[in-house]
Amino acid sequence: NELGVVAVGFSGGQPKPGVDAAPMALIEAGLIQQLEQDLEFNVEFDGKMHTYGELVPADDPPYRNMKGPKFASAVTKRVSEQVYNLSKSGKMVLTLGGDHSIAIGTISGTAKATRERLGRELAVIWVDAHADINTPETSDSGNIHGMPVSFLTRLATDENEEYFGWLKEEHKLSTNKLVYIGLRDVDKGEKKILRDHGIKAFSMHDIDRHGIGKVMDMALGWIGRDTPIHLSFDIDALDPMWAPSTGTAVRGGLTLREGDFIAECVAETGSLIALDLVEVNPSLDEVGAQDTVRSGCSIVRCALGDTLL
Ligand code: ARG
Ligand code: MN
Ligand code: MN
Ligand code: MN
Repeated sequence: NELGVVAVGFSGGQPKPGVDAAPMALIEAGLIQQLEQDLEFNVEFDGKMHTYGELVPADDPPYRNMKGPKFASAVTKRVSEQVYNLSKSGKMVLTLGGDHSIAIGTISGTAKATRERLGRELAVIWVDAHADINTPETSDSGNIHGMPVSFLTRLATDENEEYFGWLKEEHKLSTNKLVYIGLRDVDKGEKKILRDHGIKAFSMHDIDRHGIGKVMDMALGWIGRDTPIHLSFDIDALDPMWAPSTGTAVRGGLTLREGDFIAECVAETGSLIALDLVEVNPSLDEVGAQDTVRSGCSIVRCALGDTLL
């Protein structure tokens, strides 16, 4: 059981400081030890919380409505290389964020590695209150953490290397390889994108109607057996009762057990190749920070194969 861990202390995809401290908080809570001792992973981790200070551009004015675009582009390019290097050797890759913009790096890295190593296209399960599929033009906020899926699925592109133009064909995936779970705060422009492209999405409404068990059957059925899966888990998918310390909390979310169940079902497929845990911000809710970190650790353990019995 080989696991590569990347700690990405990046918060530039959104305006609130503190989400960059999440990897340390998760690690200090004992996450890596748990993975080594309880789940018997052989963990490769450089022990560094990457903050990518060397990539801070001299100036970084908004471009196509995106805030902090050059830094986010440079950081995600580097993350993409880090994840690719771990994934190409067949290791499972765990990335601790950081805000959700880092998924531009993680998913592009595994997409490329999966193509080269297995000759396969990757599937992505995106567990989130939000769809994060705004294009720079549809985004109201200009925050890049609301845009990663559009860059990864070719809905948003830019020629310029400095503005995500480094994303090539091998880094991308088709919209039919994407499944959402937990959505409840989707912008108007994003709803149109989901509709126009027939993107598979299970909202909280669907979970209420069918139950999480049936939803997971449907979600995994959509992806099909034997397809390598990248699970990108935004902690704000959980209800603020379980994960209050996050930048864009939305009430009416998943219980911790539903979140863990999603992760357990993905683990059971045996097809998981990478996991992101993002948007934990320990500085936002002083009392809730520990709960949020604990919830995050629980999701990771479940996704990496911790079983109840
Ligand atoms: N849809 C909003 C936006 O584009 C919120 C995105 C929240 N994303 C997140 N990764 N928490 O700004
Ligand atoms: Mn979210
Ligand atoms: Mn919104
Ligand atoms: Mn997100």
